[in-house]
Amino acid sequence: MRPSGTIAFHDLAPKLESFRDAVLDGLSQPRKRIPCRFLYDERGSDLFEAICETPEYYPTRTEMSILKKHARKIAKLIGPEATLIEYGSGAGQKVKLLLRTLDRPRAYAGIDVSREILLRATDDLSMAAPGLEVVAICADFLTPIALPPSLRRGGGRRVAFFPGSSIGNLTPEEATRFLAQCRAMVGPQGAMLIGVDLKKDPARLNAAYNDAAGITAAFTLNLLERMNRELGADFIIERFAHHATYERSVGRVAIHIRSLVDQTATVAGRRFRFAKGEGIHTEDSWKYAVSDFQMLARDAGYTPLACWTDSADLFSVHYLAA
Ligand code: TRP
Repeated sequence: MRPSGTIAFHDLAPKLESFRDAVLDGLSQPRKRIPCRFLYDERGSDLFEAICETPEYYPTRTEMSILKKHARKIAKLIGPEATLIEYGSGAGQKVKLLLRTLDRPRAYAGIDVSREILLRATDDLSMAAPGLEVVAICADFLTPIALPPSLRRGGGRRVAFFPGSSIGNLTPEEATRFLAQCRAMVGPQGAMLIGVDLKKDPARLNAAYNDAAGITAAFTLNLLERMNRELGADFIIERFAHHATYERSVGRVAIHIRSLVDQTATVAGRRFRFAKGEGIHTEDSWKYAVSDFQMLARDAGYTPLACWTDSADLFSVHYLAA
């Protein structure tokens, strides 16, 4: 049962037609690709939570430890009565930690494409923090979102919270545009608190995106299963494999679904050919040195005020003034 009336829910979720259209368009390109937001249906979001628990995937726990260690400093920068807007909020563990140390936080808005995860997480939060105004917005966070009026007036600073290095799933150009869009939304007194994965030893990165238990593989291949479920596709999952490698010269992990044999598959009534070894690009994960990312933030109009990293320099958390 959901507690009634405590959470304002706004449903701007992409519709089934948009999944079908994006898939048909992406599979018709000379280099096949499907936008990464479609990885996160309910099962995909659950698998992603499981990735975060694997021993190889260090970003989640490292970011948590950075947020924990510097919580007081972060709370001081943000100030009293803040409104937090979280992009790709997922299970919402990190924001809970943050809300605990903030001085009388006023409101929280979580934005996520996965409706089930979003409702679960915001429910949980509204019970943990009575008195906090909680808003759940089901949407692809890249679409410009108008905040509900109650979050646009009064109170302290508006802060965009963007953890998990999801910024790395955009190209640097898209990332700059997205950060600029957030800056307009939080307004001149606002700020951004953002987690960014750092460049590092390729072996460490390759392990993080190819966990031994195969959860990352299941997460990537769930996209084929989702097409089978929702678009009446006939992919034989065993004929494909997850493939992720760090491209050091560009500074990103490229993630593909790779066809293991020459084959065809039908999706929404259309037939597509896959050559042996051909990939469907599903996601990139760009990595940034601290100074690279600060430059990008400046390009988007921010002033970087603080950056914290862990002792092994795996991950960074930046506080940017709008
Ligand atoms: N934001 C996460 C990252 O870039 C997303 C992610 C983690 C991911 N593992 C993945 C995406 C595997 C696709 C496949 O680290």
